[in-house]
Amino acid sequence: MRRPFIAANWKMHKSPLEAESFAAAFLPLVEKVTSVDVAIAPPFPALERLGRALARSPVALAAQNVNAEEQGAFTGEVAPGMLVAVGCRYAIVGHSERRTLYAESDAMVAAKAAALLAHDVLPIVCVGESLEQREADRTLQVIETQLAGSLASIPKERAAEIVVAYEPIWAIGTGKTATPEMAQEVHAMIRERLGDLFGAAGAEIRIQYGGSVKPDNVAELMSQTDIDGALVGGASLEPESFAQIVNRAGGSA
Ligand code: PGA
Repeated sequence: MRRPFIAANWKMHKSPLEAESFAAAFLPLVEKVTSVDVAIAPPFPALERLGRALARSPVALAAQNVNAEEQGAFTGEVAPGMLVAVGCRYAIVGHSERRTLYAESDAMVAAKAAALLAHDVLPIVCVGESLEQREADRTLQVIETQLAGSLASIPKERAAEIVVAYEPIWAIGTGKTATPEMAQEVHAMIRERLGDLFGAAGAEIRIQYGGSVKPDNVAELMSQTDIDGALVGGASLEPESFAQIVNRAGGSA
C-alpha cells in the first residue's frame, strides 16, 4: 500500500559537475528497481544540473531546505516557487541540523511544509530526539511535540502526500543505527499520532528512518511494519553504496 521511498540527503557536499557525474554512474545501477521511489537532495547550486541529468529517469529531485515566503527581502533564502522552477518534487524540512545549528522551530518547519505543499512540492518532515532526551526517557514525548508542531499547517485532505522522516540525532553520521526494533517502536507511535492528526490518511503517509543507514542494514530496517523507507546521508554520497541501498530496499541483493 505504501510505496517504499529512499531519499539521499547530500548535505553540503558535491558541486553541480560532481552531481551530474554521480547521476551518470548511479542511474544504470538502479535501472531494474521499479518498486521503490527514489529522490536525491543536492545543495541548491546543483539542483538545476542534477535535475537535467535525472530528467528522463524515475529518480526525483529534492531540496534540503526552503523558505516559507513567496519572495522578498530575505537574503540568502530560497522560495518554494524557485524549487518548482528547477523541477523539485520533494524538499526536506526540519532536519535536525537545521533545528540545532540554525534554530529552526516547529512553527518554522510547519510554515515551510505548508508552503511547499501549496506549490505541490512534497515535504519530507524530519523529527528526532537527542541522546540526552532518549536517555531521560523522553523520546516519545519529544517526537509527539515535534509532530504536532511541525505538521500543524498541513491540510487534512493533502496529508497523505507528505513524508515523515524519523532521525534519532544520536544515530546521524555516527555509525550508530537504532536497532530495527527501537526504530519500529518510534515509527509505530508516529503512525498512531498521524492517525490522530489526519484520520485515515495517517495510514498512507510514508515514514522514513534516517541515521547511519547503510547497504547492510536497510533491508532489516525496512522489514519493520511502519518503516517505509530511508533518508540517507553519508552512504548516499557514492553511487555504488546508494544504489545498493535502493536495490536492497526493492528486495534484491
Ligand atoms: P547519515 O545522515 O545517513 O549520514 O547518518 C542521515 C541524515 O542526516 O539525513
